[in-house]
Amino acid sequence: EKGGYEHFMLKEIYEQPHAIRDTYRGRLLANEGIIRMSGVENHKEKFLNANRIIIVACGTSWHAGLVAEYIFEDIARIPVEVEYASEFRYRNPVITEKDVVIAISQSGETADTLAAIKLAKANGAFVFGVCNVVGSSIARETHAGAYTHAGPEIGVASTKAFTTQITVLTLIALKLAKEKGTISNSDFHYHLEQLELIPDKVKQALKSDEHIKKVAETYKDATNCLYLGRGYNFPVALEGALKLKEISYIHAEGYPAAEMKHGPIALIDEQMPVFVIATKKGHYEKVVSNIQEIKSRKGKIIAIVTEGDVDVKKLADHIIEVPETLESLSPLLTTIPLQLLSYHIAVMLGKNVDQPRNLAKSVTVE
Ligand code: M6R
Repeated sequence: EKGGYEHFMLKEIYEQPHAIRDTYRGRLLANEGIIRMSGVENHKEKFLNANRIIIVACGTSWHAGLVAEYIFEDIARIPVEVEYASEFRYRNPVITEKDVVIAISQSGETADTLAAIKLAKANGAFVFGVCNVVGSSIARETHAGAYTHAGPEIGVASTKAFTTQITVLTLIALKLAKEKGTISNSDFHYHLEQLELIPDKVKQALKSDEHIKKVAETYKDATNCLYLGRGYNFPVALEGALKLKEISYIHAEGYPAAEMKHGPIALIDEQMPVFVIATKKGHYEKVVSNIQEIKSRKGKIIAIVTEGDVDVKKLADHIIEVPETLESLSPLLTTIPLQLLSYHIAVMLGKNVDQPRNLAKSVTVE
């Protein structure tokens, strides 16, 4: 059942090229230059007339929502708020009929997310679901939706659900951008072509596994780790930290790189591994200067870089390369080495990777 892999988590990490392709199959029609998603098409007016989009989710799905915030605002020019479902539901939030709420959930059973949906519906919002489990409570409770088609995710640590959620949300953002005319035709086509190249690039990124294992060996005894990223890769930093925490029980924090000097930089010493996402597109120079600040305080730097990078290589203790892509699609690649790294560290520490202590695959109680 684990298909020859030692754990479900590893199997699911390796399934991502395939899973992402399954997510856009029949939806992304690059040759015809269209995106077909009936859940969006049938409610196009709701999306196009929305004052804003509110994304509600928990955990890793919330991180996918944060990535979506960047892409929706960047290319579709729709204001987005991303909310922890647990906070949203108890906050007496302002919701109107002009709001579109997108609920993201792998299991489709998360209690807080379900309650947030009910509240949004009661206040007249249009609610769209992005779920993996077909026929789940959230899929049934929403007005419309799009499945991720990632296949069953068994490991408690979410991996392929995350990348396929980002894929679905990217397709929606591109479709709306096209409808609204906030993206040029050539840019739209370019995005479609680049998205179609992602599965092969994920495969390429997975080839660094042996190298990542060595990096894991070096840092497995750390007691604290920092994860930094900017822009589209800030949520990837949060996700990297969550992955390490939940399966290896090592304390880790994710931050926007520029927030370092507002406090966390005080933590840096020669004991502190800092994982930095420093890909070529998207604030590269700024991230390089953040890396310099860490280096001058003797932090250990492990950087996720674009293939062929030279500048960060000179500064970092370790680099892990991923193929080049559009900035907006880069989370689909930069997240891969961080998943593998957490996996290997947890295995080396002898932890129960697929069923970490205190955690359940779906959190059906609040
Ligand atoms: O099924 P959901 O996507 O609604 O689950 C949300 C979180 O419980 C989930 O992502 C959790 O954070 C994972 N264990 C993270 O790996």
